[in-house]
Amino acid sequence: MKLHQRITAEIEAAFTQAGLSEHPIILQPAKNTDFGDFQINGVMGAAKKLKQNPRELAQKVADTLVNNAIITHAEVAGPGFINLRLSPEFLAQQLQAALNPDLSIQKTESPQTVVIDYSSPNLAKEMHVGHLRSSIIGDSLNRVLSFLGHRVIAQNHVGDWGTQFGMLVAYLVAQQQAGNADLALADLEIFYRQAKVRFDEDPAFADTARDYVVKLQSGDETVLALWRRFVSASLQHAQAVYAELGLLLTEQDVMGESTYNNQLQETVDELQAKGLAVDDDGAKVVFLDEFKNQEGEPAAFIVQKKGGGFLYSSTDLACIRYRVNQLKANRLLYVVDARQSLHFAELFTVARKADWLPENIAAEHIPFGTMMGKDGKPFKTRSGDTVKLVDLLNEAIERAAALVRSKNPNLPETDAQHIGKVVGIGAIKYADLSKNRTSDYVFDWEQMLSFEGNTAPYLQYAYTRVQSVFRKAETWDTNAAIVLTEPLEKQLALELLRFEDVLQNVADTAYPHYLATYLYQVATLFSRFYEVCPILKADTQAKNSRLQLAKIAAATLKQGLALLGIETLEVM
Ligand code: ARG
Repeated sequence: MKLHQRITAEIEAAFTQAGLSEHPIILQPAKNTDFGDFQINGVMGAAKKLKQNPRELAQKVADTLVNNAIITHAEVAGPGFINLRLSPEFLAQQLQAALNPDLSIQKTESPQTVVIDYSSPNLAKEMHVGHLRSSIIGDSLNRVLSFLGHRVIAQNHVGDWGTQFGMLVAYLVAQQQAGNADLALADLEIFYRQAKVRFDEDPAFADTARDYVVKLQSGDETVLALWRRFVSASLQHAQAVYAELGLLLTEQDVMGESTYNNQLQETVDELQAKGLAVDDDGAKVVFLDEFKNQEGEPAAFIVQKKGGGFLYSSTDLACIRYRVNQLKANRLLYVVDARQSLHFAELFTVARKADWLPENIAAEHIPFGTMMGKDGKPFKTRSGDTVKLVDLLNEAIERAAALVRSKNPNLPETDAQHIGKVVGIGAIKYADLSKNRTSDYVFDWEQMLSFEGNTAPYLQYAYTRVQSVFRKAETWDTNAAIVLTEPLEKQLALELLRFEDVLQNVADTAYPHYLATYLYQVATLFSRFYEVCPILKADTQAKNSRLQLAKIAAATLKQGLALLGIETLEVM
């Protein structure tokens, strides 16, 4: 149930009766729960505009608000807030309806086709921490939007084309001749580094590399076959990382830059025919008045280089046409580093002007900040190299397993490994997803693996604690009525009923940290509730009712974490 929406509907009716239908309601959870559950702050602004007495106007709204089954009290306070108290019977009844395995979360009434572009590493190199955030955030958005009933199409827009591949293919040939190809492809980081050294030091090799670029672009089958071998080895590395992370991405989602190759020329030609792209010293450029620099000159969005070569931008334009026309997208999301903000702003503007991106199709860049080390600089190894993702994930699992072993030395090793994986991977994902994605965040092992505070281990442990209550409860009435008498019971109920609003908010804004923050609140509130309202020692009616609350709390934590791509365990 969308609790917030339900209450808003009631308030809207009251606002209309008081002649305020044009004014925003501004509904917020109460700051102090002693005075109410929610508060309305919109009347003061309305009164000011209408030159009316705010308290009198608020009273008028409050008087009409209590004549319904949801709100029991509406009291005017301060300069003209209205404090609302909800009916415990109403809340209990709504929770009762949520006692389904799916928590009675409604599917959207207007399902969309949402294309999410995420992960999208450059295949010339091994995946490194720079790709972690896009992969994790994109995966969570995929899960939330799918859960709400949208049709999500994941697109892994890998960088599998460009001049670097001439060099890599040339190096692959050299390795093949030496009988070393398989071995060399096992570590792409070293492969790339060695190819680059060779390219810089050996002019004959550099010539071959350039020759291969031309051959690749002209569709030479032999060179293409070598390129394919390299790309497929690189993709296997990426898929191994996805599997370790438990991402939804499959090889079917890969739509690399190379797939748009044969559409680039016509894309640019069409831009030119439409009068958008013009010749600028041999290059084809779209000048954008919307993006002027300090000198007042329009931004130049280059779509074809002098000499005919295409760019990242040309590919992205062709790609938009594919996503709109072939995939029939209603909404395009690009989960890409914040440093590419200008690229996407310009890209969408050009695509709109060219009528490739109609107004009714949303295109959103979902930016995120950089992953920093504890030293405040971008995350690197001690020697200053980029950290390979496989190494980072293995370290997470190892650290978490060690932690589990130290807490429980008698645990069989297979269990320690399994728990280590769930907790370690969960910790990495949650550390990312729990922060506002637009800011940089500090990657800190101790913090993310701590069992205290807003962390994955804390939430995973909170879940197992609720489960242990059920193991101790043994028999109880799973059909019992929920009765909310204690203030903390009511608070927990209110919080649990917010789940659907929160998911909707994540779907609308593409900010997964709203969900993380919410789950943390559910977990902390549950533990306060558990301290103040004994479950197993209470009388039968209270015990059953509280177990029902616990059941919904556990289901909410499990489902919420699953939507962040994080697993839960029955015991830890
Ligand atoms: N491969 C690019 C990079 O690593 C990201 C691609 C993002 N997607 C897109 N359609 N441009 O920076």
